[in-house]
Amino acid sequence: MSDNAFALKGLFVDTPEIGALRTREGYLVCKDGVVAGFYDTLPDCFSGIEVTDCGDALVIPGMSDLHLHASQYSYCGTAMDLELLDWLDNYTYPEEGRYADPAHAKAYYEIFTRDLLHTATTRAAIFATIHTDATLELMRQLSKAGMGAYVGKLNMDRNCPDYYSEHTPENGEAETRRWLECCREAGFARVHPILTPRFTPSVTDAYMERIGKLAAEFGVPMQSHLSENRSEIEWVKALCPDTENYAETYARFGLFGGDCRTIMAHCIYCPEEEDRMMKEGGVFIAHCPTSNENVIAGIAPAARYLRQGYEIGLGSDVAGGHTLDLFAVMASAVQVSKLRWRYVDQSEKPLTMAEAFYMATAGGGRFFGKVGLFEPGYRFDVVVVDDGKNRNLRTFTPGERIERCAYLGGAAITAKYVDGCRIL
Ligand code: GUN
Ligand code: FE
Repeated sequence: MSDNAFALKGLFVDTPEIGALRTREGYLVCKDGVVAGFYDTLPDCFSGIEVTDCGDALVIPGMSDLHLHASQYSYCGTAMDLELLDWLDNYTYPEEGRYADPAHAKAYYEIFTRDLLHTATTRAAIFATIHTDATLELMRQLSKAGMGAYVGKLNMDRNCPDYYSEHTPENGEAETRRWLECCREAGFARVHPILTPRFTPSVTDAYMERIGKLAAEFGVPMQSHLSENRSEIEWVKALCPDTENYAETYARFGLFGGDCRTIMAHCIYCPEEEDRMMKEGGVFIAHCPTSNENVIAGIAPAARYLRQGYEIGLGSDVAGGHTLDLFAVMASAVQVSKLRWRYVDQSEKPLTMAEAFYMATAGGGRFFGKVGLFEPGYRFDVVVVDDGKNRNLRTFTPGERIERCAYLGGAAITAKYVDGCRIL
């Protein structure tokens, strides 16, 4: 019974219900990579298993980052002076273009992978670049590090510079197919492909149609951007005059939820019809408040989405976002929701920190399966947080300690488990 089993002892915090933290002291038992159970005292059937005492650290579910660009990490924290479309042309495409060089890709993705490993994130949905070999390199590195991830080779065949384009739908499809076949062959344990048409302005209808067919043929999910910026939305209208809304530019090719599991980043300005389509298709919303501030996109109605039962998690959206640290993104989510309440919509109360923590763990985790809670049957994705740096003469509740990690930083990740494997 106790083969392949071990336990962590400590103070565990998770959110089985939206908006309420659950705090328990005791033993979390892992068996065959999943949570076997939580116990105040270790039951007889587990006597003799290895127990690691986490002391007075906070033990939380690994966080899921639903949206980030690994290839933009090199300029993270700079290039903050432009809005989205100019930002892409001036900073993003020149940098992403460099990943055509395998040596550049290897060196820069090593730094990204190392830094991501030291955050509270255990699973992530990641954009790479249009380059097949560089994307495979990133997947190899993440897999070697033990991270859980969906990684996308981007699709782009219009409105991009000549040096950073797949040029035609035929060429783009051939490369994407080659990539998907290489992924199948590689059989990475926890790193999987996700189709990634960058956003509608970058992808012709003919190419989007082929991507839809690949999604069905290979049974892979998709990720993209939706309704982030007003100029972007106007541009999509002009490019796709025969569609009712931005969501339909993906949905008409089978790329918007339902059988094709989908993450849409941002969703700041979605009309009611897009909301309806997201709800019906179970589309995951990646709420990226740090990015939305930095590229002056706006404030998404995240509190409403969360409370109305949409699938929603947090995204760091590096390098629109300035940090990989989802604790910091939680603080930003709360802060911008207050601005939205003050300036935009008095009908929706601001997010609480417990709600932000839910999005970072259980909410985003749902995209990856049974992830983000300390419940039997859930993946044993666990992060041990030493917040000693935030200690002072006062006594803080576990909830306050999480709040301080979000606002002050100071959370050192001292151990990290994915599927019960210790990766840090
Ligand atoms: N829309 C299309 N590409 C991007 C990107 O790289 N970042 C963000 N924030 N939005 C995008
Ligand atoms: Fe993005």
